[in-house]
Amino acid sequence: MSNTLGPTRLRLGVNIDHVATIRNARGGEHPDPARAARIVAQAGGDGITVHLREDRRHIRDEDLQRVQAATGLPLNLEMAATDEMLEIALRHKPHAACIVPERREERTTEGGLDAAGQHNRLAPIVTRLVDAGVRVSLFIAPEPRQIEAAMKLGAPVVEFHTGEYAHAEGEQVAIELRRIADMAALAARNGIEPHAGHGLTYENVQPVAAIPQLAELNIGHYLIGEAIFCGLEASVRKMRELMDEVR
Ligand code: PXP
Repeated sequence: MSNTLGPTRLRLGVNIDHVATIRNARGGEHPDPARAARIVAQAGGDGITVHLREDRRHIRDEDLQRVQAATGLPLNLEMAATDEMLEIALRHKPHAACIVPERREERTTEGGLDAAGQHNRLAPIVTRLVDAGVRVSLFIAPEPRQIEAAMKLGAPVVEFHTGEYAHAEGEQVAIELRRIADMAALAARNGIEPHAGHGLTYENVQPVAAIPQLAELNIGHYLIGEAIFCGLEASVRKMRELMDEVR
C-alpha cells in the first residue's frame, strides 16, 4: 500500500546529469539542467543529484549554482575524492555529497568505492565535509568490509551500487537482491543510513524499493531516457508511483 507521507517514504533523488550530456552534444544552453530540476520538483522528486566529473562531460561548474538555486530540493553532489572536488564542495555546500570512484575512461561509475582500501585518502575528505555540515555518503558495493570502512570513516550514509543487481540474469538476480537487502540491514543496525542506485529502471526498481531500511534511491539514466518518450515529469511521476506501491 502506498504511504507517501509516513515514515516509510523512500526518497527519490533524480540524477539530471544526462540532461547536460544532451546539452553538451551541441553546446549552448538547451536543454537546461536547472529547468529539469524544477520539473523533478513538480513531479514529486525528493532531491536533485549531479555528478561533477573531472572531465566535465555532463554537469559543469557553472551548473551547480544554477541547479542548486532552481528548486528548494536538496542537492546531492556526486564527487571523486580529489582536492579539486573537495574545494568545490566546500564552496557550494550542497545538502549532500556522495563520494564515488572515478576513472576517466569509464562510461559511467562502474563499481563501488574501495572505502576499505582507501581509508587514508578518504578520511580527511569525509571529515572536512562532515565538519562543513554536508551529509556525506560513500558509494560502495554491498559488502560488509565496505560498510565497516564507512563506519571507521564516520560517514553517516552509504549508497549501494546496484549495478550488479541491475545487470544480473536468472538466479543471480535474487542473489544480488539478497546481498543488497542484507547489507541495508547491516548498515542500519550500525547506525548508517543506506541508499541505493545505479541502473534502476521501471522493471527492476520495486524489489529494491521494498527493502525497508533503504531511505533513498538515486536514479538517472533511465529516467532521462524515458523522458524522451513521455516527458520528464511523467517519467519521474511513474518511478515515484512504482516506489510508493511497495512501501
Ligand atoms: N548513484 C550514483 C552514486 C551514481 O554515480 C549514479 C550514476 O552512475 C547513479 C546513482 C545513477 O545511476 P543511473 O544513471 O544508472 O540511474
